[in-house]
Amino acid sequence: MEERKIVTSVLVYSYDELPEHYKLLVDEAKRVTKDAYAPYSKFQVGAAVLLENDEILSATNQENAAYPSGMCAERVTMFYANSKYPNLPPKALAIATFADGDFLDEPITPCGACRQVLLETELRYGVNINVLLYGKRGVYLLSSAKSLLPLSFDGSLLK
Ligand code: THU
Repeated sequence: MEERKIVTSVLVYSYDELPEHYKLLVDEAKRVTKDAYAPYSKFQVGAAVLLENDEILSATNQENAAYPSGMCAERVTMFYANSKYPNLPPKALAIATFADGDFLDEPITPCGACRQVLLETELRYGVNINVLLYGKRGVYLLSSAKSLLPLSFDGSLLK
């Protein structure tokens, strides 16, 4: 028996310390939280993706009375970007959440299904996507979606 350790590193920034282009991305993720359709959870999530051409696209979570039919902001945003610009790799994704009248103090982290979709996007374009998770007390920066999903499953295993 051997133990294998899998280590993930997260950089924690204050908002003011972020590079300017990441501040813009976080600002956009925050801005769109007001557009979320979240009548059931009241948990309004915004996501903004920075593409290779420096364009930013953003979207929000979309809920449904049949709960599983809804979708998280990260997947809505990534599918939107990949549909609109199938040949433009994403460089970074920012996520912010507004609930109970304010942005959350601590960042939320993407659910498993969103991590899987982000990983597929990284593999599809052969890039790392920097993931920025906004909280009022700190912004987490992960260097890739892969780092959020150790021991992951991907298409190479289907061959
Ligand atoms: N949600 C997101 O949009 N992103 C996440 O990372 C976590 C959860 C949404 C799904 C649902 O509309 C609401 O937040 C509560 O789970």
